[in-house]
Amino acid sequence: MTTFNARPFLKWAGGKKQLLDEFYKRFPDEIKMGKIQRYVEPFVGGGAVFFFVATKFRIEECHIFDINEELILTYNVVKNDVDELVEALKALKSEFFALNTGRGSYYYRIREQFNKSKNELNFNKYNHNWIERAAQVIFLNRTCFNGLFRVNSNGEFNVPYGKYKNPSILNEENLRNVSKLLENTEIHLGDFADCEPFVDSHTFVYLDPPYRPLNQTSSFTSYYKSNFNDKDHKRLAEFYKVLDKKGAKLMLSNSDPKNENSDDDFFEELYSGFRIERVPARRMINCNGAKRGAIDELVIINYNVNQLEV
Ligand SMILES: C[S@@+](CC[C@H](N)C(=O)[O-])C[C@H]1O[C@@H](n2cnc3c(N)ncnc32)[C@H](O)[C@@H]1O
Repeated sequence: MTTFNARPFLKWAGGKKQLLDEFYKRFPDEIKMGKIQRYVEPFVGGGAVFFFVATKFRIEECHIFDINEELILTYNVVKNDVDELVEALKALKSEFFALNTGRGSYYYRIREQFNKSKNELNFNKYNHNWIERAAQVIFLNRTCFNGLFRVNSNGEFNVPYGKYKNPSILNEENLRNVSKLLENTEIHLGDFADCEPFVDSHTFVYLDPPYRPLNQTSSFTSYYKSNFNDKDHKRLAEFYKVLDKKGAKLMLSNSDPKNENSDDDFFEELYSGFRIERVPARRMINCNGAKRGAIDELVIINYNVNQLEV
């Protein structure tokens, strides 16, 4: 276990903070007994589960993956250049708060710069330009409406200004703790299937793919230009079986289609033979806030648990 606390530094759609207690009960006993050496998370997003696992258990090596270029760029900068990132965020923060009126215009100016400079960036090779961009990602994420990171079909970040009175743009202590935690973490830009070489029988893999939409109007799977559709969920289920054969411990979560349609056996069919549990979650299932409510989340595991407490 690490002696410091490190928490997600971005707000991310589909964040799993509220489910950590339920997940903990279902983690493999081996991780609680210190017998898991590696942790792999192929859809890391904001990393609620990654930070929980990496600070709570003694894990020698972590690998996190995501297909979102801006997200992975930002993790890399936090890992490699936290001092300069903190300075860049301090500058954005002081310019933003110095404005009594016009904070919205400032937000839109940064958003425009961010979108304009995208084509000049090489997302595959770490370079100094990434630092300014990571600061912009964090600034936009903390000041935009609802903390969503959404891009349109041209890959442009298009979320409106959030109008929050006192947004938390920089939590320096946490960012420095995250940077330290990332020292033993490899950060990968790529598709979930790219994690296969890093998975063996001493690995725990937590998979949190974009939700399968609960209904036609649900737009909460739009994390990235290309939506994750039923074909991708089928490809993922095949991949789950490949990792299972390697002897890894696997936990996958998703929305339960039975919340909307009790006859929908989509995941039961894809994951037949594995242990499927339902845990209660509070989640927005519709753009209409009135439709927030308790719904179930599926947790699919390939091992038995005795619910050890550590
Ligand atoms: C439900 S979110 C993960 C949320 C995360 N567990 C958290 O607590 O913040 C799903 C993530 O999968 C990523 N993603 C979408 N398609 C992917 C793919 N084919 N391979 C890897 N990551 C993908 C998205 O960019 C998004 O960050």
